[in-house]
Amino acid sequence: MTKSQNVSGIETLRWKDSCLEMIDQRILPASFEYIKYDSAESVADGIRSMVVRGAPAIGCAAAYGIALEAIKLSSESKDSFNKGMEKAFEVLAESRPTAVNLFWALKRMQEKMSASKNASLNQLADILLTEAHEILAEDIRINRTMGEFGAALLADGARVLTHCNAGALATAGHGTALGVIRSAVEAGKKISVIADETRPFLQGARLTAWEMVQEKIPVTLITDNMAGHLMSKGEVDAVVVGTDRVAANGDVANKIGTYMVAVLAKRHNIPFYVACPLSTIDLSIPNGGDIPIEERPANEVTGFRECQWAAEGVSVRNPAFDVTPAELVSGLITEKGVIEMPTREKITTLFLS
Ligand code: MRU
Repeated sequence: MTKSQNVSGIETLRWKDSCLEMIDQRILPASFEYIKYDSAESVADGIRSMVVRGAPAIGCAAAYGIALEAIKLSSESKDSFNKGMEKAFEVLAESRPTAVNLFWALKRMQEKMSASKNASLNQLADILLTEAHEILAEDIRINRTMGEFGAALLADGARVLTHCNAGALATAGHGTALGVIRSAVEAGKKISVIADETRPFLQGARLTAWEMVQEKIPVTLITDNMAGHLMSKGEVDAVVVGTDRVAANGDVANKIGTYMVAVLAKRHNIPFYVACPLSTIDLSIPNGGDIPIEERPANEVTGFRECQWAAEGVSVRNPAFDVTPAELVSGLITEKGVIEMPTREKITTLFLS
């Protein structure tokens, strides 16, 4: 099996007929449909509206958004190409605030553009498309490497709790947290998954449960408030989650509710691992308190889709992410190895190695 092979078979994003296609994750698991994208503006809309979500997948989508815009503008004058591209970077950067992979991918595309100043506009569009393809292929390779490091941490028979969806659907393939589980299963371990449903957007119930059911990896769905009970009964052996941004000191931003799970894991002496590609570590942010946390619409809390259950007029908070302090993290699983009990020093050393 090569590192860039996507064994889950789920192609969250794919390049087809000169367009980007993305699985519409808003309607899974009831329907499985791809939506086509042909511009930066439309990709930004796909990110904003949660057609695509999950930090690495958002980064891949943004890279394709830039490539699509370059293709679209390549027959225009250099001046209008430059103006259009500037706008493309802006609109994509404004699509969602927390996942740093978005800004990481945009920076990488910007650097590629700057390094190709002498290319014609057609050549530049080609260079940017090749770079977007490379970001996607690299993401799968990294997930498989992290998967191998992470799999070694799980005992045969482990019951692993996960929160949100850090699977193939949140990446270009294989997944980060679910990648660890997939790799452990591939290595012959009997792993079972406990999936938190992940209120309010239900990524656990709709996406993680679907991915595991597709692959016949045993999965049990629970509501978020059941995790503590299961831990207290000795029914959870490890927690593995993904992340949207890790600060330089190891504080971890991930889907709302992750912090609660980490506190409970500490209380019950259960290892709490975070699968984290290096592109998700933001060395410019000293600690988790400075990570921008997205606030999402109130109607996600007052109901789901057409069904509203909360009292009309009630005030609502809907932070989409929370921050787990580094002291609660047993290990960051990266493509360069596992950083146990992460600290600023250990993270800096890993980047320099
Ligand atoms: O709001 P979402 O669905 O984009 O949030 C996703 C998460 O919080 C994931 O756990 C995180 O991005 C890691 S994905 C490998």
